[in-house]
Amino acid sequence: MNILGIETSCDETAAAVVKDGREVLSSVIASQVEEHKIYGGVVPEIASRRHCEAIFAVTEKALGDAGLSIADIDAIAVTYAPGLIGALLVGVNFAKGLALSSGKELVPVHHLRGHIASNYITNKELEPPFLCLVVSGGHSHIIEVESYVGLKVIGRTRDDAAGEAFDKAARAMGMPYPGGIHLDEIAERGNDTVYKLPRPRVENAPLDFSFSGLKTAVINLLHNAEQKGERVNVADLAASYRKAVVDLLMDNFLLAARELNTNKLVVAGGVSANRLLRRRLAELEDKGFEVYMPSLDLCGDNAAMIAAQGYYEFLVGNTAGMELNARAQRDIS
Ligand code: KG4
Ligand code: ZN
Repeated sequence: MNILGIETSCDETAAAVVKDGREVLSSVIASQVEEHKIYGGVVPEIASRRHCEAIFAVTEKALGDAGLSIADIDAIAVTYAPGLIGALLVGVNFAKGLALSSGKELVPVHHLRGHIASNYITNKELEPPFLCLVVSGGHSHIIEVESYVGLKVIGRTRDDAAGEAFDKAARAMGMPYPGGIHLDEIAERGNDTVYKLPRPRVENAPLDFSFSGLKTAVINLLHNAEQKGERVNVADLAASYRKAVVDLLMDNFLLAARELNTNKLVVAGGVSANRLLRRRLAELEDKGFEVYMPSLDLCGDNAAMIAAQGYYEFLVGNTAGMELNARAQRDIS
């Protein structure tokens, strides 16, 4: 079964064709990052306009690269939530028009369910149930994935998402947007024991995260150093900060695994590209855990993951009609 996936929730216009939820026949991503960089973050209005301009060509290329026409597609899966509303609306309306004109089924896909499904593409043997750490620019969740379409959030961030925490600290250290990847690269050359940073915990909610205090600690440290005319070693600070964020993620993830008595762990979302997080997860394999991660090309936003999840949603009849609307926020369950 061939599913066409469409993704426009943030600053990537993407379309892909995936066969039977696992085999990528094509994947096209038009990134707007360069354009948003000068503003230090995504400008929603610009994102929507660029999606409008790119969506047709990106979808046409995805079909062409797969060697298929719309007639060979079984259903059209589209990200309908969560994300920037104006950006989501472009993908949703394009998918609705295409579904109507081609007579194909329309399948709404939650963006974070898509991130989780990137693992089905990379790890062909992976099947639910498992425990998943979803860490992106907008979300940090610990999710019990009971089935392909049955998911329960058991831990979440109370303030910043992990990706956001990386980006904001990176910006304070003078790195360009999106800073997470730059901070990760520079941290590889730093000493993570030089700067002492807090490990904030959420009282009475051991599986929840809070990153804003950690981010503020870094910003204060930089301001104090500037006022005193002291030099900050950015590589050491990046390494210390990255270790603090990854410690917090790993602590809660392992606590959740103990509570649920599971050893099957999966990670997803843009931050799953983080080198330290991947190393720390890989180390768990020697301790009796089964660990699954998306390949690096599937960690960030893409439409192959939307088509993969769309396949499983379609199998259980989770389709929509022309009343489908986009939602800026929507729970994953
Ligand atoms: O999942 P994603 O592509 O978009 C959202 O759904 O939000 O995640 C983007 C986030 C950004 O905050 C970006 O800085 C972060 O993932 N990111 C990283 C790395 N690569 C991307 N954070 C830390 N280390 C990385 N290597
Ligand atoms: Zn994403």
